[in-house]
Amino acid sequence: MPERIVPMLTADVIAQRVRELGEEITKAYAGRPLVLVAVLKGSFVFTADLMRHIDLPLRTDFLGTRSYGEGTETTGVVQITQDLSRPIEGEDVLLVEDIVDTGLTIAHLLDLLQTRKPSSLRVCALLHKPSRAKVHVPIDHLGFTIEDKFVVGYGLDWAERYRNLPFIGVVEHA
Ligand code: IMP
Repeated sequence: MPERIVPMLTADVIAQRVRELGEEITKAYAGRPLVLVAVLKGSFVFTADLMRHIDLPLRTDFLGTRSYGEGTETTGVVQITQDLSRPIEGEDVLLVEDIVDTGLTIAHLLDLLQTRKPSSLRVCALLHKPSRAKVHVPIDHLGFTIEDKFVVGYGLDWAERYRNLPFIGVVEHA
């Protein structure tokens, strides 16, 4: 099915907001070491940019998840495809998500990581679609609130395509 991508957030607008988020996170942790956990695959582009605006001693780790098939509707089932490489007990952990849609993925990951006894566990999300929420999840650092449209680019995909777009746009089917 042919589709086109209608721009929603330009590369410049994203870059400015990511810089602000980095500064906000730097202040929030006040010099304490941080474990930045990128939720794959969608947040790898965002995390790479964000971490370069965080002025703290930090290490990065990755959690692989899959919640969709090839379509645009969540299945509600969150599958862990790759676990953290090291324990997080006693550490300050910030989960970095590309988008919080129904909230099911983050809720599941928070439950899972809480059992590993981090000293703190918070969430940074680039995008939030509040109209789609099925569970409430606290987002400590948020880039943009958007309406209920399926978006791609800047790491976000539609059936694995469009992650390489430098901007975020809405998929429109012809
Ligand atoms: P949730 O579990 O419904 O909150 O969905 C979270 C995951 O679904 C995100 O990490 C994305 O991988 C994917 N997702 C949700 N909405 C979109 C979208 O508009 N575009 C691309 N991926 C999305």
